[in-house]
Amino acid sequence: MKLPARGRAGGKVILLGEHAVVYGRPALAAGLGIGLTVELVAASGPLRVESDVDLALDDRPKNIVARAAAAVGLVPDGITARIRSELPSGAGLGSSAALSIAALRAGAAAAERTLGRDDELRLGRELETVFHGTPSGIDPAAAALGACFTFVRGEPPVVTPLRLAAPLALVIALSGRARSTGTAVAGLRARWEADRARYDALFDRIAATVADGARALARGDLDALGAAMDANQALLAEAGVSAPEVERLVAAARAAGAMGAKLTGGGAGGAVIALGRDPARLARALEATGARVLRAEVGGVVEEAA
Ligand code: PMV
Repeated sequence: MKLPARGRAGGKVILLGEHAVVYGRPALAAGLGIGLTVELVAASGPLRVESDVDLALDDRPKNIVARAAAAVGLVPDGITARIRSELPSGAGLGSSAALSIAALRAGAAAAERTLGRDDELRLGRELETVFHGTPSGIDPAAAALGACFTFVRGEPPVVTPLRLAAPLALVIALSGRARSTGTAVAGLRARWEADRARYDALFDRIAATVADGARALARGDLDALGAAMDANQALLAEAGVSAPEVERLVAAARAAGAMGAKLTGGGAGGAVIALGRDPARLARALEATGARVLRAEVGGVVEEAA
């Protein structure tokens, strides 16, 4: 085993199509420049995990690192994993998937192996089951790819990189409400089980917003993309995965002139993405609500492992 070893992966935003993607509909996502690094260093005794964020509050990060190490053929004893994250955790920006992919990359580097993209996507999705039972795999795909792409779940998933007319400037506001993707996904599954026809029709309408948004992005039509985001948000609210905090931020973004705004990720709290003609002004308006605000430009670069 070659130590120290490092792996890095980026966070993500789902631009359109979360939740419906679990049921086989396409979604549109993009990697973020900010991300997470896992460094494996030699130590004595069983695996330990140190983290600069509250990721280490439960056993899941350790579980992910141990499973990632095992997946590349390492016995994870005599290792300390140091996690350094620029991503807010639990906000729907893909910190758990970034951890999975960064841990796989660090493990592969320690094992002196290179994982191909398909292996990263497959193993990343397996590791996501630590966080919720039926992951679509879109989060690890974004963490592994970095670029903007459409995604349809499957073995292997269909991942189609999207060439943007121009990089997309997004304003991301964090609602501050504690949330769990697993709970949101499980709640929606129970509603779907009780009335499949209704929810399948909703998912089809979400899929239509994804198709509209992808076409809009490819031709650089931000008004049409914003309209697709607004339509998607209404459908997510109808599916029961929005939250009062999310609705307040979406309303504040629209009042400040956003072309479109919606939740991103599992919802029920977490982050809102908004598209503004003047992103700096939009960011200030959202900050004035007391939310933590990030700005990101997506779709311009393809991120690679460090
Ligand atoms: O909340 P996040 O960032 O883990 O995003 C989850 C996206 C879902 O579509 C809700 C679930 C999934 O596995 O695709």
